Amino acid sequence: MHPILRPGQLGPLTLRNRVIKTATFEGMTPQGVPTAQLIEHHASMARNGVALTTVAYGAVSADGRTFEAQLKLDDASRPGLRALADAVHAHGGLVSMQLAHCGGFSRNTQVSKGAPGGPSAALNAYGIAVGVPRVRALDEDDIQGIINAFAAAAKLVVEEGFDAVEVHLGHGYLLSQFLSPAVNRRRDGWGGDATGRMRLPIEVVRAVRAAVGPDHAVLVKLNLRDDVRGGLEVDEAVAVARAVVDAGADAVEPSGGLVFKTPFYLLRGRTPVREMAQVEHSTLMKWALHVFAPVWIQTYPYTSMFLRDDAQRVRAAISAPTILLGGVDSAAAMKTAMDDGFEFVAMGRALLADPDLIARVAAGEAFETRCDHCNVCVAEMERDGVRCILPPRGA
Ligand SMILES: Cc1cc2nc3c(=O)[nH]c(=O)nc-3n(C[C@H](O)[C@H](O)[C@H](O)COP(=O)(O)O)c2cc1C
Repeated sequence: MHPILRPGQLGPLTLRNRVIKTATFEGMTPQGVPTAQLIEHHASMARNGVALTTVAYGAVSADGRTFEAQLKLDDASRPGLRALADAVHAHGGLVSMQLAHCGGFSRNTQVSKGAPGGPSAALNAYGIAVGVPRVRALDEDDIQGIINAFAAAAKLVVEEGFDAVEVHLGHGYLLSQFLSPAVNRRRDGWGGDATGRMRLPIEVVRAVRAAVGPDHAVLVKLNLRDDVRGGLEVDEAVAVARAVVDAGADAVEPSGGLVFKTPFYLLRGRTPVREMAQVEHSTLMKWALHVFAPVWIQTYPYTSMFLRDDAQRVRAAISAPTILLGGVDSAAAMKTAMDDGFEFVAMGRALLADPDLIARVAAGEAFETRCDHCNVCVAEMERDGVRCILPPRGA
């Protein structure tokens, strides 16, 4: 039997195998609440044998949305969350919610106090075209409110039947902004040295752990490196991983990059500028993408298991399970991950391209994903919902 097919323990949860569907923003919440399309997307992951499917980007508050069409974890979302959890459970799967706050990386025109808040005052290049050009520095009350919002959102999703929550400490969203020396320039107790920059993320993990109680799992997605000058680097990421486990995390999923500066660090492969411009609503941004993207957006060649070496450092440093993410693209790669000692693998694009990959591995196939890293799925999520543009196998 392929080692990926064995059950595994993630905190209080027993997963039926080692495959986790990582968060890939679905683009299926135009009104901020789960839709039938979102429910079916995750039900189909469970139907295809995924052990734990992750609903992407659940904003813990209205201000935590990067843009307005993101899932907002409030009372209005409860019936849809319940239906989603029930649909996943009906197929023998478990479901996790990614808990996120965008901080200063926002195009949300509805934010309180006139501007999105981040660790430090800054320009918000991402929001310029829609009239949200600056980031304000969060004050003490804002920060306490954010800790409470993460805890309340975590409590809400487990009340509606979710098995796990994943706290998003990566990719340049709020908690990653606090961790990053390139973004967090505070001189108070929420910035400065590594301990200060870690303080908010750790307090959030601790509050989320307390909110969900012992019967639900808490995962943490974090950056190995930001890949920007002066950004978070692996040595410190290892210390963050240790600290989140001490604060109650049951597993760590290492990733990397800042979506507003180095978005393709976390994806690798082709940069789909033309397709991203097609789905962009702002004319200014469409133009900017065409003209500046080749200079702004760094490209990164794709390799199988592209985070493996750095993720190994985290795995060796923590007692909790480490999940290998990033280019897990074949039965052989999954076996390598297990041989390395990663307890789970998380997959995004491979599961979008080949939803039946677990059955293929179980049938003994030397499976290799069809995903060719064209990354058009990134543009598709803005169109009619995330999908792989390759025709179905055999079509
Ligand atoms: C279409 C798309 C949407 C994504 N949305 C999210 C997201 O909402 N939250 C997140 O943490 N990562 C997101 N990611 C990054 C993935 O979780 C993952 O890190 C990346 O796809 C690399 O894994 P893979 O090689 O298995 O695809 C997204 C990736 C893709 C392709």
